[in-house]
Amino acid sequence: MHKPAKPMRARGAAKKPRQPETPGAALRAEAARALARVVFEGASLRSALADANPRIADSRDRALLAASLFAASRWWLRFDAALDALTEKPLPAKARNVRALLVIGIAQLAVLGLVEYAVVAASVDAVRVLGQPHYAGLVNAVLRRFLRERAALEAKLDENPVTRHAHPRWLIDAIARDWPDHVDAILAANNCEAPLTLRVNTRRGERAALLEKFRAADIQAAAHADLPDAIVLSASTDVTRLPGYADGAFSVQDGAAQRVVDLFDLRDGQHVLDACAAPGGKTAHLLERAKVDLVALDSDPSRLPRVHDNLARLGLGAIVLAGDAATPDAWWDGRPFDRILIDAPCSATGIIRRQPDIKLHRRGADIAPLAANQQRLLDALWPLLAAGGRLVYATCSLLRAENEALIAIFLDAHADARALPLPEQFGHAAGSGRQNLPGEGGMDGFYYALLEKNS
Ligand SMILES: C[S@@+](CC[C@H](N)C(=O)[O-])C[C@H]1O[C@@H](n2cnc3c(N)ncnc32)[C@H](O)[C@@H]1O
Repeated sequence: MHKPAKPMRARGAAKKPRQPETPGAALRAEAARALARVVFEGASLRSALADANPRIADSRDRALLAASLFAASRWWLRFDAALDALTEKPLPAKARNVRALLVIGIAQLAVLGLVEYAVVAASVDAVRVLGQPHYAGLVNAVLRRFLRERAALEAKLDENPVTRHAHPRWLIDAIARDWPDHVDAILAANNCEAPLTLRVNTRRGERAALLEKFRAADIQAAAHADLPDAIVLSASTDVTRLPGYADGAFSVQDGAAQRVVDLFDLRDGQHVLDACAAPGGKTAHLLERAKVDLVALDSDPSRLPRVHDNLARLGLGAIVLAGDAATPDAWWDGRPFDRILIDAPCSATGIIRRQPDIKLHRRGADIAPLAANQQRLLDALWPLLAAGGRLVYATCSLLRAENEALIAIFLDAHADARALPLPEQFGHAAGSGRQNLPGEGGMDGFYYALLEKNS
């Protein structure tokens, strides 16, 4: 039967006016989309944040976006599990933006301590911005139930190590196996925010002079007690607005990464290889330390513009090459190096506080292939070192398979190599090297070994 057509609205007839959005609804919708990309599509937190940022006009909103994404990624494994207890039936797979929105809402309540009614109202409105208004009631109910039942729910989540520490099982087990006396401290440090640490470009000026400039600009900062070039800021800030940034007076770099270059006795005129150089943090530090002739190599050409940009801002120069460090025939001119730095690609399990999405993306099965690649780099680069030359092997991993176990295998196989002792005032002895654990000295987790070739 022919259905009668719906009557058309006369032109100009009044449409029901759309309610204005609750403040913060658009921001939360943006955060939910970004977090869903991180959790469900494997995007890195940094890239998801960088993509979302330009869509947020206000700088305070951008700060809230970053804080929300970090807190929700850091605690995903806890608060996502909480959703199972807070919903009558599982959320459908296609509702992943809503799932992300709910975890963000819970993180804003439980971690960031935002005002309850504002979080609930803005999250409810955010599902409309996300185009899924039929979830408004559910979002409202789940967040209110979380507030009502929070104490009992959190006690339940604390019973399971995965939801207590918001770390995957394989990683908790690996840390317990490798650092049995430090498990709780490591897991707790991984869930803390990292301080903002700068490295002074000593080619451009002394640390004391830069600290004085910061003081004059009312910026709270202090010299790091153990690291000659490091300044620690009391609060996170947009570093591009700090005095001296445009002139290359400093770079952002964690203290543990700065220690790598401190381990070399660099002298002017040395021929140096930075074998895994991008984005150039340690390349620049090496060049700031001495007038060395440096080759900066990285296998990923797309990361090399960052090396060039960093060196240009800091007023430094190096030969920057794209190439696989494990196949030197393709890029090496045959001139031995006095110093080689292998800042190896690794599991990054030492920098989880800065990149909490590592907990969501890294798998236990990744470790063996990473270690095989690290061994391959070390074996291939050793012949390029001059007799009497030194090589630093460093990773931002906590796992022995990528660190001391690998160095032990290397030393067994190379009679012309010996490990030099490292300063004992930092970290822990780890085979022939040393390990800083996350949070120790305010720094990231890092492993270091210093090897010398017999003359
Ligand atoms: C830990 S990051 C280096 C960070 C850098 N040293 C810094 O301080 O800024 C590891 C780097 O190794 C590079 N890489 C991975 N495999 C490589 C290989 N076979 N040869 C050279 N570079 C490699 C990656 O592209 C990545 O940029």
